[in-house]
Amino acid sequence: MHWPFCAQKCPYCDFNSHVRFGGVDETRFLKAYLSELGHAASLTGPRTVSSIFLGGGTPSLMAPTTVAAILERIAELWTVAPDAEITLEANPGSVEAGRFRGYASGGVTRVSLGVQSLNDDVLRSLGRIHSVDEAKAAIEIAHAHFDRVSFDLIYARPGQTSEAWRRELKEALALAHGHLSLYQLTIEPETPFAALHAAGKLIVPDAEQALALYEVTQELTGAAGLLAYEISNHAVPGDESRHNLLYWRYGEYVGCGPGAHGRLLLHGARHATSVERQPERWADLVGREGHGWVEQLPLTRAEEADERLLMGLRLAEGVDLDRLAPEGAVPPLAAVTELSQLGFLEVMRGSGGGRCIRATQKGRFVLNEIVLRLALGLEARQDAYPQWTFARPPTKHPTT
Ligand SMILES: C[S@@+](CC[C@H](N)C(=O)[O-])C[C@H]1O[C@@H](n2cnc3c(N)ncnc32)[C@H](O)[C@@H]1O
Ligand code: SF4
Repeated sequence: MHWPFCAQKCPYCDFNSHVRFGGVDETRFLKAYLSELGHAASLTGPRTVSSIFLGGGTPSLMAPTTVAAILERIAELWTVAPDAEITLEANPGSVEAGRFRGYASGGVTRVSLGVQSLNDDVLRSLGRIHSVDEAKAAIEIAHAHFDRVSFDLIYARPGQTSEAWRRELKEALALAHGHLSLYQLTIEPETPFAALHAAGKLIVPDAEQALALYEVTQELTGAAGLLAYEISNHAVPGDESRHNLLYWRYGEYVGCGPGAHGRLLLHGARHATSVERQPERWADLVGREGHGWVEQLPLTRAEEADERLLMGLRLAEGVDLDRLAPEGAVPPLAAVTELSQLGFLEVMRGSGGGRCIRATQKGRFVLNEIVLRLALGLEARQDAYPQWTFARPPTKHPTT
């Protein structure tokens, strides 16, 4: 469920998030969400919902009653598993105890906070509306109401040294309870950061420094027992985000709300669905048509295989080759062998007993390049490594 509003737009962010200084007509938007969910259920038929993710934007700007009404509607339309994971994304600038109590009683079981940094100067330079003290208070309030709390940090920031990141990450690990999302700063096109970057006024770490920061991240999280189950996501075993795992394992998900994407098996074929991005246009469309879905396209076998490879190689557990084969895509043996010899890939036995490939820690740092080479079957050469492109950190939920 995508909530597309924020209190302020951060200069690095290209999510579908909008600021409405005149306020948001929450009643109208709620009505639209309830209606669009009904449309989704008419397509899927009865299903069991194993997880729900309220992402954004800043869903913690929604009144707890709005969140509760959305969750109730989902429970009316489908069967919600008794142990379903229900996550709400929150900005520390919009966290207070009363609200969190309301979210918990409405059914939310997990909170993910956008902390971004534990340094006030950095928070200011990232255009954040909260301070370090507020972020720490938000983590505490979240813990008082939810058993499962995660927070996000952005690293590989301008001028960041390995020593400074080591100190900050150690502090973060002391505050963490089982799950952390650690994203490398990406310069997204058409953001204020992209303009500053193009003008030479914002300089991000070069490849060598970014690799050093990535290695510090792996070393410290590993030592603290928060394993990298995905490129940017670290958890104590058992505390992985089940919702995110479902995306990366290429499961089925409904995407509702402005700009949301979904993947659904309909009439035996996997379909890609997408929703009108502009919030008010979306609400108008839902008012007229009952939903704001603007695309519902069957994917070809080759597209499915590409997506499965792209998503699955983000995971430490890798991708099952036997799942790819029926989709007509066995990565070329020569490329797999060569990438394995270079230490970027491992071929192993998957949990189901079949063959599985996975990117190594070194490989996950250059994942885009690996996926490209597997998809094209091109030859990889060790001397090409320094020029390889970075894996784009998964700053977005696949739904948006
Ligand atoms: C939807 S936001 C989280 C909730 C809330 N909107 C907030 O920012 O506090 C998702 C996360 O994406 C990450 N993110 C967004 N843009 C990014 C970028 N350009 N580079 C790296 N991480 C980014 C941030 O860590 C952010 O917390
Ligand atoms: S990072 Fe979060 S708070 Fe900032 S604009 Fe993006 S979605 Fe909104």
